[in-house]
Amino acid sequence: MSFPDVRPRRLRRTPALRRLVEETRIAPAELILPLFLKEGLTEPRAISSLPGVVQHSRESLRKAAQEAVSAGVGGLMLFGVPDSANKDDTGSAGLDPDGILNVGIRDLISEVGDATVVMGDLCLDEFTSHGHCGVLSSDGTVDNDATLEIYGRMGVAQAEAGAHVVGPSGMMDGQIGVIRKALDRAGHQDVSVLAYSAKYAGAFYGPFREAVESTLQGDRRTYQQSPGNVREALREVELDVAEGADMVMVKPALPYLDVIAAVRERVDVPVAAYQVSGEYAMVEAAAEKGWIDRQGVMLETLTSIKRAGAQVMLTYWATEAAQLLRERY
Ligand code: PBG
Repeated sequence: MSFPDVRPRRLRRTPALRRLVEETRIAPAELILPLFLKEGLTEPRAISSLPGVVQHSRESLRKAAQEAVSAGVGGLMLFGVPDSANKDDTGSAGLDPDGILNVGIRDLISEVGDATVVMGDLCLDEFTSHGHCGVLSSDGTVDNDATLEIYGRMGVAQAEAGAHVVGPSGMMDGQIGVIRKALDRAGHQDVSVLAYSAKYAGAFYGPFREAVESTLQGDRRTYQQSPGNVREALREVELDVAEGADMVMVKPALPYLDVIAAVRERVDVPVAAYQVSGEYAMVEAAAEKGWIDRQGVMLETLTSIKRAGAQVMLTYWATEAAQLLRERY
């Protein structure tokens, strides 16, 4: 062996040495738990394609929030699933103060208040009869500017319900600026905007569509991005920051680590990544077959997403991962 005798293995010799030089570590406070609240349920209901995740009743939602907070989870992202009778062309139940999402935000605030960060998904797809993220023009395409006006009002409704953060996920042009202005005009200067800036129109959202009982026919390719594009993601992110986004997000996460890294390089606001339903379901399915170590892969995927540059991670494993991390460190 040549001199100096270079041996990187020296630092891997004992668990204590490895711990000392570990570069990437996740704190429970960096995890956000997405939650589904279904109107009219008295008991939580399983989602077959998302084992371990449920559609909550109002009561079970409160319990899940408490558990997450006890585990140290940093935030909760709420999705509302209205009764199908309450879906319409314009998604009006999403704006209704008594609509399921706003009711759920109020419940979370009264249950866990400032012990965590309460966030609302700001999008129309759960509330429209056609399942698109915006309203439709007479020719059937999604009408960007008509949708913006509705998003502005939806943001104000969520702020009025007590949300600390709103998360616009509809990928309409100009949505961050319009929502920011609407919030400010209504006196909600302190409510933050987590922009789903680079959201890809891929195949990883399948189980989510079951979770929210999506009625979508077709796809979202006229508003979400093509999987091959990274420069376009940077353009989206820069526009969102210029329009007032407090945080930006890349979604999905693991298949888009290069996008996360590029976004991290480009902007100084916190970067979030969403480990989406399909990413979760693949691991759960393989683990159920005994093909992989479930908890090992869980923490490895989250570590990879953080290593790529995400500071905040949305994951259906948030509570369990937070508990595991607490035992580990
Ligand atoms: C749209 C929205 C979607 C997800 C979060 N917000 C679905 C979509 O864009 O079709 C997917 C999240 C997941 O798959 O876990 N409001």
